[in-house]
Amino acid sequence: MSNKVIINTDAAKGKINKNIYGHFAEHLGRCIYEGFWVGEDSDIPNTNGIRNDVVEALRQLHIPVLRWPGGCFADEYHWKDGIGPRENRKKMVNTHWGGVTENNHFGTHEFMMLCDMLGAEPYINGNVGSGTVQEMSEWVEYLTFDGDSPMANLRRENGRDDAWQVKYFGVGNENWGCGGNMRPEYYADLYRQFQTYVRNYGDNRIFRIAGGANVDDYYWTEVLMREASHMMDGLSLHYYVHPGGFWGKGPATGFDEAAWDITMQKTLFMEELIEKHSTIMDKYDPEQRIAMIIDEWGAWYDVEPGTNPGFLYQQNTIRDALVAGVHLNIFNQHSDRVQMTNIAQTINVIQSVILTDKEKLLLTPTYHVFEMYKAHQDAERLDLHLESDSISLGDQNIPQLSASASKAEDGTITITLCNLDKREPADIVLDLRGEMLSDVSGRIITADEIDAHNTFDQPDKVKPKMFEQVELKENKLSLVLPAKSVVALTVS
Ligand code: AHR
Repeated sequence: MSNKVIINTDAAKGKINKNIYGHFAEHLGRCIYEGFWVGEDSDIPNTNGIRNDVVEALRQLHIPVLRWPGGCFADEYHWKDGIGPRENRKKMVNTHWGGVTENNHFGTHEFMMLCDMLGAEPYINGNVGSGTVQEMSEWVEYLTFDGDSPMANLRRENGRDDAWQVKYFGVGNENWGCGGNMRPEYYADLYRQFQTYVRNYGDNRIFRIAGGANVDDYYWTEVLMREASHMMDGLSLHYYVHPGGFWGKGPATGFDEAAWDITMQKTLFMEELIEKHSTIMDKYDPEQRIAMIIDEWGAWYDVEPGTNPGFLYQQNTIRDALVAGVHLNIFNQHSDRVQMTNIAQTINVIQSVILTDKEKLLLTPTYHVFEMYKAHQDAERLDLHLESDSISLGDQNIPQLSASASKAEDGTITITLCNLDKREPADIVLDLRGEMLSDVSGRIITADEIDAHNTFDQPDKVKPKMFEQVELKENKLSLVLPAKSVVALTVS
């Protein structure tokens, strides 16, 4: 069989929200400390304590939104410990992540400054599990109230006169697990209560995000939608790819071909999750007012040997480029309901886009995929039909290809394609129907070994190159996608 893609270039299907390309940064391992934050006195070049090299690299990705402070950490975090003079800030134990002492040097002001430097919108996750309604309510007042009030005045005392604009606010995280081990019925009630006091001050309008389901817990979605959908703007969903099952995730490098295949299969499962959770959401919200916010996703492996098991530090290979490319194509294709996603996590934790070692920094294959896909942000999704060969995995088949396409305001079309097969290339014809197109260029990321990755000694081993083997004739693109590759084409 041959692979075929039909793209109706004049059939726009709605905007791909740029927030689909969002990120997540938790107080976990070396994401915040060492990753983003080194402090003003560090020898590592920084601006007000934030690494310059990290900001420069992330600005290339046009990160639209950054979620903070957790994760599980969010439901243990007391924001007042992270404001005021740093030397006076209260310490705490980060019980979820390695039991290390958190000095709270990176707090609300530092996070808002980071978002400013990145040009990203803040997405703040409040504490339901161990916090109070008052604490959450006061955080919102501290952040966004411009008048004369105890919290606004406290903010001024801490050096910030103007209220910030904060749109995205999460009311708890994983409240079925680390966020309080609640039943959905109980959390739905707490959500209703807590969100009541998450106020809109002045012209700041908060987009309230309820803590959603773990993977395929459809009952959670059903209860939350039934009991609280009229009080939320978004409902989250978390799903991680664990190639070896939850307790045996498998190594990030040095894995075998079977682990490659299972990783691809589990990545594709995201599509089923979105469709099934969406069906439940549609029942209560047929107008699709409520956004699906997939605020944690990625491939989660065993930690690198010799590193703190609680720090979740893992390498990132060409396999992760495919994990990212396929996920992002799925999100684009479901951009009617999926309005934001946040890869876990930006630096040094799980599926990172950046790894650091003291003053050194490397860009992972996942970083390069985000960069190659960035033209999809806020572009119009195009109608796309894909016929793909299959990869046989014993008694199951999975498609060899994944694709999505969009058109930017200036008319440029971006098509992103992934070949999930670890060995076989794929011949493809893309039939572009609609307007006449005359120009194509492309970039590719691929590698010879299934676990090819960048190291601090060889930081550019896996990176995108120009992709010349593509021909445009009578509005048909013909190309051969090498095994284990991600390609981005620009057509006009
Ligand atoms: O991203 C790591 C952890 O995974 C988060 O803290 C938690 O929400 C999830 O279980």
